Amino acid sequence: MSVFPKDFLWGGATAANQYEGGWNEGGRGMTESDCSSSGSIKSLRSVTYRLPDGTAGSCPMFAPLPEGAKLDVVEGEYYPYHDAVDFYHRHSEDIALLGEMGIKLFRMSIAWSRIFPTGVETEPNQEGLDFYHTVFAELREQGIEPLVTLCHYDTPLYIEQELGGWENRETIGLFDRFARCVMSEYKDEVRYWLTFNEINSPLMMPSFLPNYPAAKMRSNFQVLHNQFVASARAVKFAHEVREDAMVGCMLAGRCSYPFTCDPADIINNLQGKQEALFYAGDTMVRGAYPSYARRLWQAWDVELNTEPSDFEDLAAGCVDMVTFSYYSSSTSTTHTDVERASGNFSSGAKNPYLQYSQWGWSIDPTGLRYFLNELYDRYQKPLMVVENGLGAKDVLEEDGSVHDPYRIEYMREHVRAMGEALADGVDLIGYTPWGIIDLVSASTGQMAKRYGFVYVDRDDEGNGTFDRYRKDSFFWYQKAIASCGEDLD
Ligand code: BG6
Repeated sequence: MSVFPKDFLWGGATAANQYEGGWNEGGRGMTESDCSSSGSIKSLRSVTYRLPDGTAGSCPMFAPLPEGAKLDVVEGEYYPYHDAVDFYHRHSEDIALLGEMGIKLFRMSIAWSRIFPTGVETEPNQEGLDFYHTVFAELREQGIEPLVTLCHYDTPLYIEQELGGWENRETIGLFDRFARCVMSEYKDEVRYWLTFNEINSPLMMPSFLPNYPAAKMRSNFQVLHNQFVASARAVKFAHEVREDAMVGCMLAGRCSYPFTCDPADIINNLQGKQEALFYAGDTMVRGAYPSYARRLWQAWDVELNTEPSDFEDLAAGCVDMVTFSYYSSSTSTTHTDVERASGNFSSGAKNPYLQYSQWGWSIDPTGLRYFLNELYDRYQKPLMVVENGLGAKDVLEEDGSVHDPYRIEYMREHVRAMGEALADGVDLIGYTPWGIIDLVSASTGQMAKRYGFVYVDRDDEGNGTFDRYRKDSFFWYQKAIASCGEDLD
């Protein structure tokens, strides 16, 4: 008998900006990521801008723009998100493939700027609303439930650039309008929602990027406060329009171990987790800031701009489930004489017990079991792993096959680890591996870093047919789902 329950939500995950394409079609407005070029494992992605005198330029992602510069698309630059992998035109083919694989849950995001192109319109863009109605109808035909992220790193550019983005409290109200619009519009089509993708990621930046400015970190606390309030309001509204709605927070899974048993490393690891993971999770699950928040605010010299109603909103909008991304584990240490390694928004001492991927991320299935137990002990809420997978280079053979035993091995061990966590008593209800159909990498902008069970013919220079090919892992996952996690060979 499989340890996975019969109604376990086997699925796959994507996000609009990395998957959809059609960046200037159907009335869609621009997002910051439309101005992001591609990078590589060695060089960070850039963003392009224009100065007031019209001169174009570029600078590394996350770096401050020059005075007066505005993000913009400039001639001669390649922007991988513009076409991404063309789901906008190939949704029927992709959804048929998902149906063939047998998945039950499809994680996708609604591009906010398809519905409200600048974010400040008072009426939604009908063409955008219709697009997602079509997608949801096609999913339903295949017996697949959508799991919809409201904001996956794609706040409309106008809000980011002209209104000050999430640091400005006005953005809470604009998001509220967007969330209410789509939650009402799709109330009969969508039961599962996530509010903000990897909401804790801004607080992971200092440990990820050396010399991350303290002022930026201070503003990140305000960004998160505003997003917590916006998220809580969306959770409350979701239940008003649909009683059985399940709304989750989505955390970047910072599974970290102390590098040594030096007590200084133990505390360092605890504090790192409080700041970069639990601060967000605790607030969204419990509806109030945790006890250690005050100390964090003091340490970063943070004065939050709040209103009394914010705290009522937080208390009234506790999430129904906790979801997270998990690719690898990291270590924390106070020791400096160590070899270092980085992962998804994380960095620390290299773990000598683990293998590392082609992009230098550790491979640690046991960490997933550990992390599931850690979150369930703390929150006692249903959990979903909504991103997991191995970014690797694949080779498309002449006969259209793709042999990816490395991916199958990675997935098999992570599914086994989830089985162990279920046997440990964790209430794990779903699993949506990342980039189930190849899509553009968020950190590097590459196509070469592939996660999918379906190969997409597209390269890092924008060449390719966008044709889809089933990888060996496609058939492996199909079998795993059909046997409800029993047959993993
Ligand atoms: C998460 C994001 O950070 O990790 C995804 O939610 C992203 O958007 C994924 O694609 C994998 O990271 P990358 O950089 O390999 O694409």
